[in-house]
Amino acid sequence: MRQKIIAGNWKMNGSQSFIDDFSSQLQPEIEKLSERVKVVLAPPAVYLQQLGDAFSGSGLGLGAQNVAQDDKGAFTGEISAAMLSDIGVEYCLVGHSERRTLYSETDQMVVAKVAQLIEKKIIPVLCVGETLAERDADQAELVVRAQLEAVLSAFSDVELASMVIAYEPVWAIGTGKTATPEIAQAMHAFIRSVVADKSASLAERCAILYGGSVSVATAAELFGQLDIDGGLVGGASLKADDFKKICESMD
Ligand code: 13P
Repeated sequence: MRQKIIAGNWKMNGSQSFIDDFSSQLQPEIEKLSERVKVVLAPPAVYLQQLGDAFSGSGLGLGAQNVAQDDKGAFTGEISAAMLSDIGVEYCLVGHSERRTLYSETDQMVVAKVAQLIEKKIIPVLCVGETLAERDADQAELVVRAQLEAVLSAFSDVELASMVIAYEPVWAIGTGKTATPEIAQAMHAFIRSVVADKSASLAERCAILYGGSVSVATAAELFGQLDIDGGLVGGASLKADDFKKICESMD
């Protein structure tokens, strides 16, 4: 049985008072939600400690949005995997499309980051996905395969055993245009087949999350698809009530 995961990516949003409000609404619910799904929240790095403290002992998985590709030293502004691990971070997004596009993150950098996370036993949430132009040009599978293979070819099955993959079509992120369940399922099945080319057992175990305008209205149908094991939720994860409902729509 694959683990079901709903992860909230807060991106560059939130504040100390926001976290106080959010946690007072969600904290009492987390234990019950955790019976059906692993709930993960990825706030901006400066708030990881506060969020971790607010949900301490609740079963919430603490997630980071980014990690340095190096382990330590003269890298001004960077945060290492060791530092994330030190404050209890269990998951970390890697290769989010906003990082790939806005910060020129390459597959090589993604591989270096995954290596750092594996070394510190933090679960990488590898984000992949095509742009609208790539989909229109019938290149979606090609693009996603290349993003996946960069990582799959760099590590052993054992090293990747806990990896989570998030399929986030760029055209669906923050646009309100959720992929249809059929489009999402087709790509998730494709992703699983690419992982299976490396290792059938890894493919069977690997949780593949869908991200891109997941909402209370669209979550249940998406999560009902065979190869969709959960969600990576942006905007809707900033509303405690919506996020709770999205978690509840996972069976
Ligand atoms: P939205 O849910 O706001 O579209 O964001 C998706 C996302 O990028 C999560 O990582």
